[in-house]
Amino acid sequence: MSTHIRSEPAQKRARTLEPMCGIVGYVGSRPSQDILLAGLARLEYRGYDSAGIAVIDDAGSLGMRKKAGKLRALRDSLADAALADGHTGIGHTRWATHGGPTDANAHPHLADDDRLALIHNGIIENFAALRAELEAEGTTFRSETDTEVAAALLGHEFRRTGNLAEAFRAVVNRLEGAFTLLAVHQDEPGLVVAARRNSPLVIGLGEGENFLGSDVAAFVEHTRHALAVGEDEIVTITPSAVTVTDFAGNVVEPVPFEVSWDPASAEKGGWPSFMAKEVAEQPEAVANTIRGRVHDGAVVIPELEGSDDLFRGIDRVIITACGTASYAAMVGKYALEQWARVPVDVELAHEFRYRDPVIGANTLVVSISQSGETMDTLMAVKYANERGARTLSICNTQGATIPRESDAVVYTHAGPEVAVASTKAFVAQITALLLLGLHAGRVRGSVSAADAAEAVAELEALPAKIATVLSEEQAHVTQLGGWMADTRSVLFLGRHVGYPIALEGALKLKEISYIHAEGFAAGELKHGPIALIEPGQPVFVLVPSPRHSALLHAKVVSNIQEIRARGARVIVVAEEGDAAVLPFADEVIRIPLAGALFEPLLAVVPLQIFAMALATAKGLDVDQPRNLAKSVTVE
Ligand code: M6R
Repeated sequence: MSTHIRSEPAQKRARTLEPMCGIVGYVGSRPSQDILLAGLARLEYRGYDSAGIAVIDDAGSLGMRKKAGKLRALRDSLADAALADGHTGIGHTRWATHGGPTDANAHPHLADDDRLALIHNGIIENFAALRAELEAEGTTFRSETDTEVAAALLGHEFRRTGNLAEAFRAVVNRLEGAFTLLAVHQDEPGLVVAARRNSPLVIGLGEGENFLGSDVAAFVEHTRHALAVGEDEIVTITPSAVTVTDFAGNVVEPVPFEVSWDPASAEKGGWPSFMAKEVAEQPEAVANTIRGRVHDGAVVIPELEGSDDLFRGIDRVIITACGTASYAAMVGKYALEQWARVPVDVELAHEFRYRDPVIGANTLVVSISQSGETMDTLMAVKYANERGARTLSICNTQGATIPRESDAVVYTHAGPEVAVASTKAFVAQITALLLLGLHAGRVRGSVSAADAAEAVAELEALPAKIATVLSEEQAHVTQLGGWMADTRSVLFLGRHVGYPIALEGALKLKEISYIHAEGFAAGELKHGPIALIEPGQPVFVLVPSPRHSALLHAKVVSNIQEIRARGARVIVVAEEGDAAVLPFADEVIRIPLAGALFEPLLAVVPLQIFAMALATAKGLDVDQPRNLAKSVTVE
């Protein structure tokens, strides 16, 4: 593909593990504590076991505070007794790996007589050997973390070199594994040094100030000018300069990009939760993903310009993703096969590369990731590159690693998604896949102009139809969720593109309400799952439109009768006017009429609202469910 985000050579390193933490750094003229805490609030989706900041104050001393628990605990502690303020600092929000979520294990970690502070996202695989070496030399440790070893090493090197950037270079060359490291030293105020390997880091460029973050959400409120940091690079930021080198010290040119996210969209803005806000933003997420990609009734994706020969030449597509993104992939399979007439397989990224898939130069591997940092998906992309496939990513986060590792990227424009449960990114991913199917179908000549124009009209009507579901069904479905707060299990059934939506409905419920939920292909019911049905068992059934396939519709209605006969409490999601479901449904949720491939974008909305309402009725935190982090950067 001719137009693409710079693709770096595939990293052929040993497999690494990386925990999910959020990292922010600041140098400038403003009080750094406020900027660090605001950045951490936006990165808290990456981990929320503990949080901490370190600031070099105006007297040139390093102050540090860290607390187990959510960011609120750190905020409360700072409200009780603030650190002396300064204009250089680093902040961290943690998802624990080495050592439990305690104050001691929280970051930053200090070294060099507490004059140096370091934070880390990643796992240092050789930390045990390094720790033993340091202990033999008399270093004592205050935590169980691998990070403190890096801090201690940096302290040693700083004492030797008296230069933080030089000390960093010596340290990173001794570390194995995955890391983003940020450090400050009180002897070098006005400087933050960072390094990255297999773990995300982006730079935000301000006027007289500069920022570092795990992703652009950390600083988008202050600047939209950003630089992507490549693998194995070291960054130094001062208020007026940014320098990037490789681990050997050679200066490299980082790739600039503009962040299109509206900073206000990363704020809760009066909504009870980010999830509620993001569900409501779905019409906009779909509209923004379509914008600029439709011309005269045809889909033309500008990012794919120059790749027509590639699309004509491919004989197979593999879509790879995890979790919710993999359900979007399943919908994408239907669209690509129908319009582009190319065989499509959907592969969970963590399964894909542990077998020996048939991949060649005519295979297009499409990865889907909201964050662009999911380690399983990233490794699948690297694997596909190594096997000679062409790679295209569908991603929501600019400057993220997966697009950088792919030959091309089609961005979804859902805006920042903060709630752990993916909602607006999901509908934007499906939208991007529908666009991709129509783009490829046009290029391959497998979709007629009339069919394409009809599909485009369907696409463009989607935002208003999603808005209709939100306005017409929100109260009804919220009430259902409230009534069912004590339910212990919910099943979801669907066929065709309704099947992935059943899976997504079940995943939403599991992850935020912690109750058992399963999605099934409705046709599979009689092959086992029907044994689960007992009197009172709630079952959501996604009913396909009879206008598209009377046969499929009739089959689903008969599935409803089968479960109803065994006492199931049936909640039907069906298009307006479908009266065939009425005799057998306890509840009917209506969606507007839409083409078969477009129905998933409507049918998923009530399932998201239901999960949110039930979790809220149980008094749970819908944005930050237990045990989860948004960006799963652990294999
Ligand atoms: O950032 P990604 O899209 O790569 O994330 C993939 C999954 O981890 C993600 O969709 C996860 O399943 C969500 N928490 C589901 O709501």
